Amino acid sequence: MRLTKGVVLIVSFLFLISLSSCTSQTEPEASDDSIVIGFSQLGSESSWREKNTESVLDAAKAANFKVLYENAHQKQANQIKAIRSFIASRVDVIVFSPIVETGWDTVLTEARDAGIPVVLNDRNINVADDSLYTTFVGLDVYKQGKMAAEFLQKKFPDPNQAVKIMEIQGTRDSTPTINRHQGFIDELKDEPRFELVATDHGDFMASKGEECLRNLSQTIDLANIDVIYCHNDDMTRGVLNYLETTTFKPGEDLVIVSVDGQQDAIDALKTGKINCDIECNPNTGPKLISVIEHMLLGGEVEKQYYLEDQVFSEFDDLDDLKDRGY
Ligand code: AHR
Repeated sequence: MRLTKGVVLIVSFLFLISLSSCTSQTEPEASDDSIVIGFSQLGSESSWREKNTESVLDAAKAANFKVLYENAHQKQANQIKAIRSFIASRVDVIVFSPIVETGWDTVLTEARDAGIPVVLNDRNINVADDSLYTTFVGLDVYKQGKMAAEFLQKKFPDPNQAVKIMEIQGTRDSTPTINRHQGFIDELKDEPRFELVATDHGDFMASKGEECLRNLSQTIDLANIDVIYCHNDDMTRGVLNYLETTTFKPGEDLVIVSVDGQQDAIDALKTGKINCDIECNPNTGPKLISVIEHMLLGGEVEKQYYLEDQVFSEFDDLDDLKDRGY
């Protein structure tokens, strides 16, 4: 059955008459029957992001939802503006992928005052009152950080070997940056031989990943580094571009660990230029929309839904791996 405002109203109506013997209620009229979602995507910084946007828009279309879509081009101010425009348009649900975790309390209070539920896609937020959003659908990025560290424990099994790590993080204050870092260091905390010697932020973009490594290598001799841990595949592409201008062989002189599972990184893994790629599943759309449908029909929803991720590494046989699609 197609979920429309009419269906939502009928279900609510049936629920109400089942609760009381009231006979005078009538079903309110809706001028347009489609459920309308306001979707604020944070930007298009990576191939992963493009695929995630496509996944949400396709799933919404398959459910016959109307979508008001806004791309924030990496600016929180644009996302806040988009959310305010969705409130003014009286959408049924606001979906957004927050670029950073903080700074949402005021605008989400406005959404709550307007009676519009908010659903987070992909990234989480840090607000004083958790009831400002209904639910979250995304990835366990803390676990991704742990899986990256677990690969290094397997790659460097000698307990006496020192391992010096350079980390290229994503956007400051964003969920994947905070938690890919935290999961990684938590996993390695009992093994001081793994040492994080340098960190920079590349905003999840290839050009900035390249810039980070160029800048870091001005002060740190890459000959003293064993591992580059990059928070996403686009930044890894930038890192590989930079290394091409040097004599260092990625995958051999420097172990490269990345996150996302994009096709270009899988290709680099197959040719030995990177050593491990932790998947970050971009296909949140179907789960997101099914959770929204359930929520609109008055069903209870959990606070968080996580999709599963897997690890691709030099220890795996990747011959039969299907095209990743992003
Ligand atoms: O929030 C998910 C991350 O954001 C992906 O790893 C990255 O590619 C994207 O920019």
